[in-house]
Amino acid sequence: VAAAAPSTVGNVLCGFDALGMAVAGPEDRVVARPADAPGAVMDGIFGDGGELPTDADRNTASVAAAAVLRAAGHAGGVALELHKGLPLASGLGSSAASAAAAAVATDRLFDLGLDRDTLIRAAAEGERAACGAIHLDNIGPAIAGGLVLCRDHRVHPLPVPQDLHAVLMAVPVRSDTRRARAAVPEQLPLSQATAQWADVAAFVHALHTEDWDLLAASLTDRVAEPHRIAATPGFAAVHRAAMEAGALGAGLSGAGPAMLALCRGPETAEAVAATMTEALRTATGLRGEAWVGPPAGRGAHVVAVEED
Ligand code: HSE
Repeated sequence: VAAAAPSTVGNVLCGFDALGMAVAGPEDRVVARPADAPGAVMDGIFGDGGELPTDADRNTASVAAAAVLRAAGHAGGVALELHKGLPLASGLGSSAASAAAAAVATDRLFDLGLDRDTLIRAAAEGERAACGAIHLDNIGPAIAGGLVLCRDHRVHPLPVPQDLHAVLMAVPVRSDTRRARAAVPEQLPLSQATAQWADVAAFVHALHTEDWDLLAASLTDRVAEPHRIAATPGFAAVHRAAMEAGALGAGLSGAGPAMLALCRGPETAEAVAATMTEALRTATGLRGEAWVGPPAGRGAHVVAVEED
């Protein structure tokens, strides 16, 4: 069974570890085949430049597949081939995409029929192997698709106003999610916490009511972003350029260095994308690759089934 899973954006500018969205860009693919030994093994990894671990206990895909088998109480074994379509350590949810595709392929291979939230929790074990902590804001949308709220090990799909467009700019610099998470302080002053949870609530309310002013006003991250931007080349220039070109809000995609802008309407989004890549080039000499589209990509899905 072959399954594909999309790029995802964690945090979505105001909801650290709580908001995530799938984008209809490049995908990772995993081919799952039955194996004799119980559990999951990696059979091959392509497109990673030899960088990802092939060790079953450390690869996000095999960890996720093994967690799926455990969740279903299935004693079988699976061998996985991982085809990377997403850049590594980029802020585009690369490890989550591999884990999500592996979870969905394994579920289908043995017709386990696990429900969505169980698959997400199993795939999240792969995320833990990759970055040391479980957070669902990449895995959740990588499996469920769309824009989701992640709360207490479950995901809740959020409505996406028709005119809402995302600009996602990949930056050709590596970021280590484990280190980026270690940079986030454990404590947040109460006044900041109060402002942040009001913003997350405002964002969700604005999506339901299509209140564009409230949506724009809600897009601030006081939790993680301030502690990460020093490690993100050109952040200030790109952020300023996006806002001047009419973005509703802009900031890091997940742990960065990729950046996200949310915009009203496709024309504004195209203009914001052009100005973000130009600002990055002027400030740093780096060539960013921008993608524009509605923030409601498809979640992990089976793309091919080969019968014996
Ligand atoms: N919520 C996670 C973080 C997303 O910001 O660390 C990582 O992609």
